[in-house]
Amino acid sequence: MVPLSERPGLRDAVDRLIADNMPPFMAWESPGNWRWHHLYERFAAHQLCVVDADGALLAAANGLPVRWNGTVADLPGGSDDVLVRAVDDDLAARPTALCLLSVSVAREQRGAGLPRLLLGRARRAAADAGWRGVIIPVRPTDKARYPLVPLAEYARWRTPDGAPFDPWLRTHLRLGAEHLAIAERSLTVRQPVKRWEQVLGSPMPGPGPYVVPGALAPVRADADGTATYVEPNVWVVHRT
Ligand SMILES: CC(C)(COP(=O)(O)OP(=O)(O)OC[C@H]1O[C@@H](n2cnc3c(N)ncnc32)[C@H](O)[C@@H]1OP(=O)(O)O)[C@@H](O)C(=O)NCCC(=O)NCCS
Repeated sequence: MVPLSERPGLRDAVDRLIADNMPPFMAWESPGNWRWHHLYERFAAHQLCVVDADGALLAAANGLPVRWNGTVADLPGGSDDVLVRAVDDDLAARPTALCLLSVSVAREQRGAGLPRLLLGRARRAAADAGWRGVIIPVRPTDKARYPLVPLAEYARWRTPDGAPFDPWLRTHLRLGAEHLAIAERSLTVRQPVKRWEQVLGSPMPGPGPYVVPGALAPVRADADGTATYVEPNVWVVHRT
């Protein structure tokens, strides 16, 4: 495992890995995505990369330091809010926690426990810095199959043996994370209806909610010719 600060040449590979593992609209223009490059430029030490013996990228975690007082009330609004306030304001100054905005594992490497390595390293980095822990606005991986169910309800679903229903939430809780809150408006993408129609694969003839592949909640088309996706996430903390 190496931070991007020690292997800057991996930057494009990190971007590609994230894009390959997300629905296309997650890379469109949004308050967070406009500022994403700051992660590489200002916080390269918190971009963790897992590479194979030949140096090829297998997995990555994208983080940045944030100031958080440990309460639910003080959590940022979500992924966009973290980047907007870290870049435009002083959320990253005098930090007390690490925030991970993305964890990605290449498809052929899944299920091998690489998140355990990445989350373990992030937690140790936070502990070494004397911070409270690692906070994450989690994008539950199976939620897109149930876009009409409110995330608060989905996050309460359990398997017959009592574990979280969602595999990614399960991994976090198994590694000791604590569920904090629902970030109802973690990420917002507003684009022309025509662009969304390409992802949907069919027309969106009028205003209303549409179920778009890969979206965790319906995308809402408006009368002004735009449609907006507001993604909810689950805030968890891995305490140090
Ligand atoms: C989320 C993600 C990082 C998890 O990586 P992972 O390597 O599958 O994680 P884990 O090893 O902890 O496995 C998680 C669960 O999925 C299962 N799983 C997922 N893919 C699997 C595969 N190809 N083979 C076997 N098991 C798999 C694991 O067994 C585990 O389930 P369990 O709790 O029943 O054991 C990965 O799926 C990913 O990159 N997804 C796309 C990006 C994304 O959504 N990131 C999260 C939001 S930022």
